[in-house]
Amino acid sequence: MQKGLFVTFEGADGSGKTTQLNLIKSFLEEKGYDVVVTREPGALELGQKIRNILLHYEGTVADRCEMFLFLADRAQHVETFIKPAINEGKIVLCDRFTDSTEAYQGYGRGQDINLLKDLNKIAVNGTEPDLTLLYDVSTETAQNRVGNEKDRMESAGIEFHKKVRNGYLELQKENPNRIKLINANNSIEKVFENSKNIIIKLIQEKLGE
Ligand code: TYD
Repeated sequence: MQKGLFVTFEGADGSGKTTQLNLIKSFLEEKGYDVVVTREPGALELGQKIRNILLHYEGTVADRCEMFLFLADRAQHVETFIKPAINEGKIVLCDRFTDSTEAYQGYGRGQDINLLKDLNKIAVNGTEPDLTLLYDVSTETAQNRVGNEKDRMESAGIEFHKKVRNGYLELQKENPNRIKLINANNSIEKVFENSKNIIIKLIQEKLGE
C-alpha cells in the first residue's frame, strides 16, 4: 500500500493554526482522503498525563525536565500512532511537532538548538514531516487572541513569545522546502486559501494525484 502523508501545523499560541488544521481536514475529507488529526503534547492516554504536567503543574518545572517531557510524549506518539497511520496510507495532520520543541525550548527557553535537533531525531526515529505549515502572526496579535485564560506555557511572557516567533522564522529559513511560511494576520478565508494551495501541491507531488 502507498504510504500516506505527514503534515504538521506550527506557530504561536493564538496564531490560528488549529482552526486551519480543522478546515484542511474537512477539505481533504470532502475530496475522499483518509485523514487523521492529532496533536502534541498529549494526543494519547499516556501523553494526556504528560500534557497535564506540562500545561498545568503549579510548582517549578526545570527547563530540561520540560524539554524531556515534550520529547517523551513525542516518542510515544510517533511510535504508537503517527507512524502506523502513515504506513496505513492515511494523511496525518498534526498540531505541533518537532519545530515546537526547537522554537519553544530552544529559542524560547535557551536550550541548545543542535542538541534539541539530535534529541528530536531520537524521538521521531525517522518519521519526519513531508510538509510543515508555519502560521506567522505578530506576537501582540497572538497574545490578544489567546486572551486572559493562559496555561503554563502561554503565561511565559511577551519576551519569551517573541523569541519563539523569531525562532520559528529562523527554522523556516533553514528548511524552506519543508516549512512553508503563511501570513496568519490575514482573514481566516485567505489563510485557508493559502494553506489549501500548498497542500494540494504536496499531494500532487507525493501522491501523484
Ligand atoms: P496547546 O494547548 O496544545 O496549545 P496550542 O493550541 O497553541 O497548540 O498547548 C501546547 C503548548 O505547549 C504551547 O504553548 C506550545 C507548547 N509546546 C512546547 O513548548 N514544546 C513542544 O515541543 C510542544 C509540542 C508544545
